[in-house]
Amino acid sequence: MARDPVRVLVTGAAGQIGYALVPMIARGVMLGPDQPVILHMLDIPPAAEALNGVKMELVDAAFPLLKGVVATTDVVEACTGVNIAVMVGGFPRKEGMERKDVMTKNVSIYKSQASALEKHAAANCKVLVVANPANTNALILKEFAPSIPEKNISCLTRLDHNRALGQISERLSVQVSDVKNVIIWGNHSSSQYPDANHATVTTPAGDKPARELVADDEWLKGDFITTVQQRGAAIIKARKLSSALSAASSACDHIRDWVLGTPEGTWVSMGVYSDGSYNVPAGLIYSFPVTCKNGEWSIVQGLPIDEFSRKKMDATAEELAEEKALAYSCLA
Ligand code: NAD
Ligand code: LMR
Repeated sequence: MARDPVRVLVTGAAGQIGYALVPMIARGVMLGPDQPVILHMLDIPPAAEALNGVKMELVDAAFPLLKGVVATTDVVEACTGVNIAVMVGGFPRKEGMERKDVMTKNVSIYKSQASALEKHAAANCKVLVVANPANTNALILKEFAPSIPEKNISCLTRLDHNRALGQISERLSVQVSDVKNVIIWGNHSSSQYPDANHATVTTPAGDKPARELVADDEWLKGDFITTVQQRGAAIIKARKLSSALSAASSACDHIRDWVLGTPEGTWVSMGVYSDGSYNVPAGLIYSFPVTCKNGEWSIVQGLPIDEFSRKKMDATAEELAEEKALAYSCLA
């Protein structure tokens, strides 16, 4: 029997990540090759014509799984009945703007979109925030949508996770699909802590610790970390635009694993509401290693944390606490 379509909201759909993301969703990259979808695309009035152009292209691509498109600048229409919400829309930083100016614009967008989702999305809607500052936007969305379970609100650090897999695969000249269980701790910012201490590489002789194969702790504690932390800036420098295809692909990975489950023995990184695990202060949206089953994520528990890691995990938590305070001061 044919499955009912899943309604997927993409905000900021006329932007560059939106343009890469919506065809992936319509092709089944996010929810699987047998899952029909209805796309809800939201943008703001100045982008309405471009948004309509994206809708025209979706029609022209004749995606068999795509059962409908809602393209709108009305947040209520966009949020109505959605099962999954990918929040990409936001105000980009412009020349001369201070960090606080960007934060003010974005947290007020996330505050108002929180209310629309809370009132109009389907029960149990899963939310992924991509727009920066992603962790803090997700936290504001959570705080202003109290009836959405906190377990349903997350932010994207899977791109950083995938970047870390990519760096180890390049360093060892192995397939990226043979590397697993890196961790991104903390904020989707340059304070994040990419951690390869528990990562493994599949070899003909079985799974081996990546740390043993790399055999260069100086690299793992130095260039590996800074390359992943600074990768977003490196892409902006090279493209004069921020990452889009990798962000869109990672957003699909995030939702796919959340909904359909992580493979046995594999974890991924997701920004989720901290419950105090690993002594990360509760009440922050912090990136942890998680496994997913039956549509629910759980933080991987019991990993040994050395002193080097502890310091880096605490530093990124401190930045998130500062961002949270700044966000609240912007809303006051
Ligand atoms: P973009 O500027 O190309 O697109 C953003 C879109 O959002 C625009 O079309 C804009 O009109 C729209 N928009 C603005 N305000 C809106 C609102 N209130 N409601 C709905 N739409 C609104 O930017 P982009 O390159 O697509 O990036 C989008 C966001 O994703 C940025 O904040 C970027 O920093 C962030 N990002 C995050 C990650 C991550 O890994 N978490 C990676 C890359 C980019
Ligand atoms: C990225 O990680 O590529 C982006 O978050 C960079 C940015 O500042 O938009």
